[in-house]
Amino acid sequence: MKIVGIHSSPKRKNSNTLKLLDSALAGAKEAGADIELIDIAKLKIKYCTACNSCHDKGVCSIKDDYQLVLKKLLDADGIIWSSPNYMMNVTAQLKTLFDRSPLITHEQFFDGKYGLSLTTAGSGIDEVDFVLNIMNTFMINCGGNAIEGVGYAMAQGPSAMDAAIVKSQEMGIDLVEAIKEKRPYPEQKAKQEAWRAQFKYVILANKDHWTHNCDYWAEKGWLK
Ligand SMILES: Cc1cc2nc3c(=O)[nH]c(=O)nc-3n(C[C@H](O)[C@H](O)[C@H](O)COP(=O)(O)O)c2cc1C
Repeated sequence: MKIVGIHSSPKRKNSNTLKLLDSALAGAKEAGADIELIDIAKLKIKYCTACNSCHDKGVCSIKDDYQLVLKKLLDADGIIWSSPNYMMNVTAQLKTLFDRSPLITHEQFFDGKYGLSLTTAGSGIDEVDFVLNIMNTFMINCGGNAIEGVGYAMAQGPSAMDAAIVKSQEMGIDLVEAIKEKRPYPEQKAKQEAWRAQFKYVILANKDHWTHNCDYWAEKGWLK
């Protein structure tokens, strides 16, 4: 079983969020998974140019480090997303990765995969929950399952950071368990089915230039 952890803080090794990610990956390893950390702040990932190549041909037209990350995400059974709260959002590095991924969303490539989200923030717990929700929503929008999230806000005091590190390790173990038992998340599945029932009209409206998406949806039987 392969678990990939995405680190997206530009603070690299001095990152608070990295402490949670290291702990979650250690938990996953303890539970038997092969783990890999990818520091996307070190990579060259350009902005999406909205060229539609992914919708039309099934490949991104931009040749950069995104291709490498995409392969690793698609090969993984579980993904640990991590980002500090930057202006009530994920970092620009992670948002850029998300923006490059419409093919994963449109063709639901994370079907059967499980995700865990981690964040740290300066202010209160609301800031934490908001950013965890962004990462969990991305996972679900791509067809995957979001098991939960762990976060820490500096305003909670230093002992809360220790607790978040412990909880991240437990959640790393739980991520492996969720994958092993193919844990169902009926509410997330219902959300994905409801999305497909509506989005088919968008696919059909764009069928002349979203050829790859359209063929994929036809093959899956999602256009009925
Ligand atoms: C550019 C920038 C924007 C930030 N925006 C917020 C914010 O909107 N809300 C908040 O609670 N903390 C905010 N913070 C604080 C960080 O989320 C916090 O320090 C976090 O622990 C940093 O994580 P890192 O060490 O992994 O980079 C911001 C920090 C930076 C540098």
